[in-house]
Amino acid sequence: MYNGTESLAIRAGHLTIGGADIPALAKKYGTPLIIYDECGIRKACGEYNAALRKHYGENALAAYAGKAFSVGVMYRILTEMDFGADVVSGGELYTARRAGFDMGRIFYHGNNKTRAELAEGLDYGVGRFVADNFEELKMLEELCSARSTRASVLIRVTPGIEAHTHAYIRTGQIDSKFGMAIETGAALEGVKLALSCPHLDYCGIHCHIGSQIFDTAPFAETVKIMCGFINTVRDICGVETRELNVGGGFGVQYTDEDTPHTPDEYIRVICQALKAALVQYDLPAPRLILEPGRSIVAPYAVTVYTVGTVKSIPGCRTYVAVDGGMTDNPRYILYGAKYTFVVPERADEPKTMTVTVAGRNCESGDLLGEDVPLQQVHPGDLLCTLTTGAYCYSMASNYNRVPKPAVVMVREGEDRLIVRRESLEDLVRNDIF
Ligand SMILES: Cc1ncc(COP(=O)(O)O)c(C=O)c1O
Repeated sequence: MYNGTESLAIRAGHLTIGGADIPALAKKYGTPLIIYDECGIRKACGEYNAALRKHYGENALAAYAGKAFSVGVMYRILTEMDFGADVVSGGELYTARRAGFDMGRIFYHGNNKTRAELAEGLDYGVGRFVADNFEELKMLEELCSARSTRASVLIRVTPGIEAHTHAYIRTGQIDSKFGMAIETGAALEGVKLALSCPHLDYCGIHCHIGSQIFDTAPFAETVKIMCGFINTVRDICGVETRELNVGGGFGVQYTDEDTPHTPDEYIRVICQALKAALVQYDLPAPRLILEPGRSIVAPYAVTVYTVGTVKSIPGCRTYVAVDGGMTDNPRYILYGAKYTFVVPERADEPKTMTVTVAGRNCESGDLLGEDVPLQQVHPGDLLCTLTTGAYCYSMASNYNRVPKPAVVMVREGEDRLIVRRESLEDLVRNDIF
């Protein structure tokens, strides 16, 4: 129900997640509160693993994109689910390491990794460095040489795909801050540079065409282009490309307007296109890597707020103000992202109001949704935003010195705190008074 998952249900009029009563959790932990259903996350991981095995075999790996939601418990779950992980900063890497995650299964991304981050990655034994540009390759070679070690690299390639999604989350086109374009020749130069570095092991290529993509066609097209490039690398450089990482980007259902496919369907199409291209170019099958982020976590969490005021402006609209906003979910102010809202204590009642959900921060654009349907709502009620598992807590800020919310994980009805609510003292921890 609601967002196509089994995580959410209604019991005695109350919205539940993972079998736990949301109003009861709000009472126990306070609001704003983010609540995850662990079984949903595990199920999603399992679906990726099963689909890769079914459509491609054993020579494949799903690596969770940590930027979607990167906290210690996630890396424990990923270990148990036999996943790899994509990290994009020293902070995400540190979190994974602190959680005991196997560093050999890390894909280290970032379009501007610092020397210190690269050095740390080498010291930790990171499995793959996804090199975004020439400077990074040179820096990595220098660092490896100084340590008498070798690094395994993938070259981040921009395949020239215009995926139909918001411009800010579209990354596969030539005009991108990420990667080296095939069309301009930069990608081939990147491979040549990696091959010329004695301390770098060229393993393969990576791309990521964007996020929240519903159509399967851009993925098939991407795979075709990437295989064409692998063929060029073999022809010109005389080396095989052993790994093909096609990133993430698989869509999820935030509102009724969204129509994502299942992981199985996305992977079926990717593998079909890959197998056809391998035959076309007579290439050996590379190891296939995917990096789903949003689709592993987004549908399996809700954010619960307390409503402070309900303000009706005659002839205009009704604002429902909550005790959170852009500080725990900046996706509306960033992309105009759409959500589904529910009053969790009256989840079975019809949505008879049309409201604008406003955050508590000092920005007029600090909204969570405009003109959205909602059950009758009053000051003091709880309000839930659904499908907030990805790019919400991980993008949270302390604007207006608002503490970040607590995060709870539910498993078969049992709840546990996985991230403490920030205190006022946490906010001033680094201030020098
Ligand atoms: C390199 C890379 N891989 C994977 C992802 C995850 O994408 P999504 O969360 O849409 O699956 C991203 C997202 O920006 C990315 O940049």
